[in-house]
This record gives sequence, structure tokens and C-alpha cells, in this order.
Amino acid sequence: MSAPKKGRGGSAGKAAAGGSGRGATGRGAQAKGGLKVRVKTAKGRTLASKNWLERQLNDPYVAAAKREGYRSRAAYKLLELDERFHLLKPGLSVVDLGAAPGGWTQVSVAKVNAMGIKGGPRGKVLGVDLTAIDPIAGATLMQLDFMTGDADKVVAEALGGRVDVVLSDMAAPATGHPQTDHLRIIALCEAAAEFARMVLAPGGSFLAKVLRGGTERGLLDQLKKDFAQVRHAKPPASRADSAEIYVVATGFRGQQ
Ligand SMILES: C[S@@+](CC[C@H](N)C(=O)[O-])C[C@H]1O[C@@H](n2cnc3c(N)ncnc32)[C@H](O)[C@@H]1O
Repeated sequence: MSAPKKGRGGSAGKAAAGGSGRGATGRGAQAKGGLKVRVKTAKGRTLASKNWLERQLNDPYVAAAKREGYRSRAAYKLLELDERFHLLKPGLSVVDLGAAPGGWTQVSVAKVNAMGIKGGPRGKVLGVDLTAIDPIAGATLMQLDFMTGDADKVVAEALGGRVDVVLSDMAAPATGHPQTDHLRIIALCEAAAEFARMVLAPGGSFLAKVLRGGTERGLLDQLKKDFAQVRHAKPPASRADSAEIYVVATGFRGQQ
């Protein structure tokens, strides 16, 4: 995928600056004309892939992302969370862990640069992922496995100072074994929280994907010590049948 073209980038910027994120559900809750698109079983197509394709074709967020120039439907999760918690403001610096293909990074760039406002404050965005991310104007991108060696220090060095917001949408591919998937996502969230403690400026925010049931007790207790407020939220763009929810911690108290 390529970086947003001028028109598409503008559209993404406008959508993010508008910040409603509700357009996706409001405008196209069903496929074109309100009719559900059905996919025929074809040779070589498994039932799972048929179901996946059918869901994609009927998903209003997928359609909205395509229309508004976002690289992923996940962009709307961040728009919706930000609409509620006001994490991304012009001039802030943000690190986005698990950024590929780049929806959250696009939203962050638009928000911290007050897209559309001439001469407004400029923020900074660093996106990090295991997989390569095609360039996004206004963002710095790094490809690395955040769970290996001193990846956290490498990213901290690239940031070159404290940041205001740490985002983590990191998720390992599902194994189909719920306990394994749970452990893996918790490990990713813990690593992101540890990193947030290392790089956040006082007053900063941390937003990360966890699983239904909320954040693990130990991690939650630590977050409550480190932040003035810790909440859980499931944005409307997060599929109801998905176990994912987000932990939102605001008001970082600083290193203690
Ligand atoms: C749900 S996707 C993120 C979608 C993204 N927020 C967007 O808006 O486009 C989860 C991402 O986490 C990344 N990821 C998983 N484990 C990781 C790790 N150890 N280090 C870096 N990225 C990781 C995956 O490569 C994947 O791209």
C-alpha cells in the first residue's frame, strides 16, 4: 500500500480533524442500497475465508476507510476512543506501537498537526511495527519486533525525548487457542505499559489493546499507581464478537 495520495490524505486529515468517527456507522450501516453482499463458495475457498470476505464486504467501517483514505478500519477505533477521551491534541508527540498498516498513525498525524489549520502547532508521530509500513507523510516509521532484546531502548532513542501519548494496538496473529492468545496479548500490553512508564512525560496518556475481562490485575494495579485515571472502553468500531477492549490511562504521574 502506498502513502496517502494528496486527495486521500486530505480526506483522512479531514475525517480525523472532524474526529467524529461515527460517519462509518451512521452513513453506511449496510452495504450499498442496504443490501447484504453474499459471497458464493468458490473452488479452493474455505468456509472461513468465505465468511471473512462476506464480513469485509458488508462492514461499514471497511467501506468508510476506503472512502476516507484510511489504511485500516482500525482507524475508526482510535477516532472513537479519542472522541471520548481527548488524547490526541495539536502539538503533542505520539508513539504508535503495532502501527501497521497505518490507520492509527494516519489519525495521529492528522490530530497532532491540527490538519487544515494553517500555522497551527505541529506534533510528532512515530509508528513501530514488526512488518514494514509504507510511508505516511508526517510520521517516522520503524520496523522492529518490540518484544525482542532492547527494542524498547531503540524506540526510546528514536523518540529522542519524552512523549505525550503511547498507543499500542499490538496484537499477535490469533492461534485459535484462547488461553495462548490471551497470554500473548497481555505480554504485548505489559511491554507497552512498561515502555510508557519509561518515555511518557508527566500528564501523558497510555492507550492499549487488552482482552475482554479487562487488564490483568497486576498490570491494572501498576497503571493505577502510575496514572490519575484508568478506564476500559470498547469503541463501536471494535467488532462485538471480538474479545478486544482498550485500556485508557490518563494523567501520568511521572517516574516515581
Ligand atoms: C491490529 S494490527 C494494528 C492495526 C493498526 N493500529 C492500524 O490502525 O492500522 C496489530 C499489529 O501489531 C503488530 N505487532 C504484533 N506483535 C508485535 C511486536 N512484537 N512488535 C511490533 N509490532 C507487533 C502486528 O504486526 C500488527 O501489524
